[in-house]
Amino acid sequence: MAMARSTVLIIFALFCCYASTTASSQASSSDDGFLKCLSASIPSQLVFTRSSPSFTPLLKSSIRNPKFFTPATVRPLYIVTPTNASHVQAAVACGRRSGVRIRVRSGGHDYEGLSYRAVRNETFAVLDLSSLRAVRVDARASTAWVDSGATLGELYYAVGKASGLLGFPAGLCPTVGVGGHFSGGGFGMLLRKYGMAIDNVIDAVLVDARGRLLSKNTMGSDVFWAIRGGGGESFGVVLSWQVRLVPVPPTVTVFNVPLTASQGAVDVVTRWQQVAPALPDDLMIRVVVQQQTANFQSLFLGTCDALLPVMSSRFPELRFNRSYCREMTWIQSVPYIYLGSGSTVEDLLNRTTSASVFASGYKATSDYVRRAIPRDAWATIFAKLSQPNAGLMILDPYGAAIGAVPESATPYPHRAGVLYNIQYMNFWSMAAGDGAVQTKWIRDFYAFMAPYVSSSPREAYFNYRDLDLGENVIVGNVSSYQAGMVWGQKYFKDNYKRLAMAKGEIDPEDYFRNEQSIPPLAKNK
Ligand SMILES: Cc1cc2nc3c(=O)[nH]c(=O)nc-3n(C[C@H](O)[C@H](O)[C@H](O)COP(=O)(O)OP(=O)(O)OC[C@H]3O[C@@H](n4cnc5c(N)ncnc54)[C@H](O)[C@@H]3O)c2cc1C
Ligand SMILES: *[C@@H]1O[C@H](CO)[C@@H](O)[C@H](O)[C@H]1NC(C)=O
Ligand SMILES: *[C@@H]1O[C@H](CO)[C@@H](O)[C@H](O)[C@H]1NC(C)=O
Ligand SMILES: *[C@@H]1O[C@H](CO)[C@@H](O)[C@H](O)[C@H]1NC(C)=O
Ligand SMILES: *[C@@H]1O[C@H](CO)[C@@H](O)[C@H](O)[C@H]1NC(C)=O
Ligand SMILES: *[C@@H]1O[C@H](CO)[C@@H](O)[C@H](O)[C@H]1NC(C)=O
Repeated sequence: MAMARSTVLIIFALFCCYASTTASSQASSSDDGFLKCLSASIPSQLVFTRSSPSFTPLLKSSIRNPKFFTPATVRPLYIVTPTNASHVQAAVACGRRSGVRIRVRSGGHDYEGLSYRAVRNETFAVLDLSSLRAVRVDARASTAWVDSGATLGELYYAVGKASGLLGFPAGLCPTVGVGGHFSGGGFGMLLRKYGMAIDNVIDAVLVDARGRLLSKNTMGSDVFWAIRGGGGESFGVVLSWQVRLVPVPPTVTVFNVPLTASQGAVDVVTRWQQVAPALPDDLMIRVVVQQQTANFQSLFLGTCDALLPVMSSRFPELRFNRSYCREMTWIQSVPYIYLGSGSTVEDLLNRTTSASVFASGYKATSDYVRRAIPRDAWATIFAKLSQPNAGLMILDPYGAAIGAVPESATPYPHRAGVLYNIQYMNFWSMAAGDGAVQTKWIRDFYAFMAPYVSSSPREAYFNYRDLDLGENVIVGNVSSYQAGMVWGQKYFKDNYKRLAMAKGEIDPEDYFRNEQSIPPLAKNK
């Protein structure tokens, strides 16, 4: 039991803290126009070209998927590390003037690496926001301003320091960046009680393609709607976010119950599908299924005494008892759940990636389940997860607060009627291969799952980006709205069109674009 759990935790911890140690350099060319333009507004020590010794370490510093740090990777020509909003405005203005596109990077956790690499040859600069990462908590008002370059861990830490009775509902991994995470949605252990990160954003500061510094009131309601789930990269550079903090009790209870197939995991997971989305909103029970083990990982907003009767009445199949309970504060639960029982609250501040950590590439994708999957299909799933080179599944139950938000209230449409989200992941050692076998396993498994998951469209989570779902096609120097529907409707359903209209308003020339950015659509179309 303990071993099964630590296996999962080790994989997550390693995954979270990866840093590559290999270096490689590409021939660099330089665009004097861009650099000359920048030099008027940005101190030269914040601008890096391929010939700077710190260029490669800086590029690597927040890369989480080493398969996008190989000699074949299309890399930036420049990296700019702004320390002031005015630097961001200047970088955008200079980029447009000199034909250099910008890819914004906050935490670098993009599954397809689109914040720091391009799929095809392209002249671009990375705007790395890691120096813009202040967090200002107003505990009395239960709000905070957080800069995009902060990590989730830094946000949680500051909230926990300011008050033991406040929290924030966002993702589990502390090194994920606020900029990408918030702009793409963001959910974690508080999703059933308080919804997603975007459901709790109340203001934001954005630099648009004209270099203007805009707030909620000046960017327009469509654009403010769009950056809360539609992906920031399409609309500009989101510099900071004001969020509503949420109440948490002084004591929460964390538990983890591992069950193997021979201990009845297939039956219990089958049952979990009905139970977990209907539980009281104080109780989140997610499942990580790996090989033959289902790990039921939970957070309850209350004491063990209060939890026990809920478990015995609602989910007796799990055979839960007091010995599983770990009581602690909410802020202690954050590192405990993701980094393991030996971790501390201070570890939330650690954004350093360890050189000794494995060099493990990965491939991931996602699904949403609206009808419980039959038991016999689960038996087959467990068998497939034991194949050589198989991946794992993470099941996050929905219902309660996340399902109560209307589909069109934010760009994130996977709400009422969703039982749970599935994330599929597969890892491999970069030293041992290119991941072709593990990637094929994911693709085959995704095909196998089709009859059991949402369809028309087959829904997917934007923050679990997967370029297999489709890529932009450029027509007349802008991304094609029509071609983008293929992937856009999977991520956004009917909200895709409104996102494209918001894009048409704020960036009609499609300056801010990548392989899965929202294409511009004129309002009268
Ligand atoms: C280990 C790991 C654990 C994760 N756990 C969770 C989880 O628990 N819950 C969950 O919901 N998701 C989770 N994710 C997914 C995560 O939310 C997304 O990958 C997210 O987009 C990462 O944000 P980032 O700033 O770190 O990434 P980046 O790679 O920096 O950015 C991602 C995308 O957003 C754009 N972007 C970044 N910052 C800005 C900005 N300031 N303005 C405009 N555009 C911007 C980038 O250009 C890029 O296209 C996890 C990912 C990893 C790798
Ligand atoms: C950023 O630059 C502006 C304008 O130059 C200046 O007024 C402001 O104080 C700077 N902010 C920080 C945090 O340095
Ligand atoms: C990539 O594009 C640049 C100009 O945009 C060009 O100089 C360079 O040769 C191209 N590289 C490849 C490999 O096509
Ligand atoms: C609680 O469950 C564990 C694991 O199934 C078991 O070993 C233990 O005996 C149980 N304790 C009680 C008090 O029932
Ligand atoms: C941060 O994490 C890295 C990688 O795990 C580790 O090597 C380092 O010691 C940690 N730093 C601190 C201050 O804990
Ligand atoms: C294409 O768009 C980019 C960004 O808006 C612009 O810099 C470039 O000049 C355009 N190219 C053409 C051929 O219009």
